[in-house]
Amino acid sequence: MAIIGKDIEKAAQLLKDGKLVAIPTETVYGLAANALNNEAVLNIFEAKNRPFFDPLILHLAGINKIKEYADLSDERLLKLAKTFWPGPLTLLLPKFKVVPDIVTSGLANVAVRIPNHPLTLSLLQLIDFPLAAPSANPFGYISPTSPEHVNKQLGNKVDYIVDGGKCDVGIESTIVGVEEGEICVYRLGGLEMEEIEKVVGKVNLKLNLSSNPKAPGQLKNHYAPRKKLLLGNLNKLIEENSALKKAAIVFGNCPPNKQNLNYFTLSESKNLKEAALNLFSILRELDESDCELIITEPLPEEGLGKAINDRLKRASS
Ligand code: TXA
Ligand code: MG
Repeated sequence: MAIIGKDIEKAAQLLKDGKLVAIPTETVYGLAANALNNEAVLNIFEAKNRPFFDPLILHLAGINKIKEYADLSDERLLKLAKTFWPGPLTLLLPKFKVVPDIVTSGLANVAVRIPNHPLTLSLLQLIDFPLAAPSANPFGYISPTSPEHVNKQLGNKVDYIVDGGKCDVGIESTIVGVEEGEICVYRLGGLEMEEIEKVVGKVNLKLNLSSNPKAPGQLKNHYAPRKKLLLGNLNKLIEENSALKKAAIVFGNCPPNKQNLNYFTLSESKNLKEAALNLFSILRELDESDCELIITEPLPEEGLGKAINDRLKRASS
């Protein structure tokens, strides 16, 4: 198990020495290393068991730092950056040479973001390199939203876990880029599409699900628990699986538990923000419980509901 603490000077020193440190962000915890140190970045892939074709996000302290690593001259992206950073937005930008190819899996664009977490922002001020950080979970599994989640799965692979408490947003950042002159969203996430469109107008949704995806984290079976999860009409799913011990994830009040059927709510008051915040911890809890099947229904397809439904779809495939 790793040491969990708030000592960012210690974290900074470990990162300077090429070690892996788990960092809190407002979305999910990241598994960070010095992005300019090839060997350290390699260790990230190894610790997560992540294929090299899946590139990493650069985390930086402020918008003024971007120009050292990538081209943020597109006016619409710049406007998004100024409006939403620090925050749950990742931009795909043409990369400069200093960014190692291992970070971008050889792609011409690099993903960058300025996370909104006070401890991690202070940590980024203490170092003079960006942090490459994917979510701190084994490849394909549910992202961690607390230090304990990280410790359980990667505790023996990281040198330190910075304790920033429970994440505020609970699902990953929204990934935005430009393709043929148009603004595209490649991953639905903690920043709502509607908010993005208020700033830059209509955007294209390009959630790549093919075997050669643009944002490989969009692989169909990503964000998945190990237990079987079915997404559909709850009553129907209950009927069809009457013999199994089921856990049902609902949005709103929990009906009384029945034999073979326990209810868990994402948000009693039907608040999408609260639902996003609870999603991954509930999935983890159920994955570790003795239920045989997880069943759930899609949430309203609006705001964060879109990103939550996207995660549920992937978890069910
Ligand atoms: O909220 C987040 O974004 C969290 C926190 C830790 O910042 N990070 C995160 O990283 O979710 P990760 O590696 O789990 O997901 C990053 C996604 C992957 O789907 C990856 O394929 C995509 O970003 N990505 C990274 N660099 C890219 C690039 N150059 N071109 C296209 N997609 C890229
Ligand atoms: Mg991830």
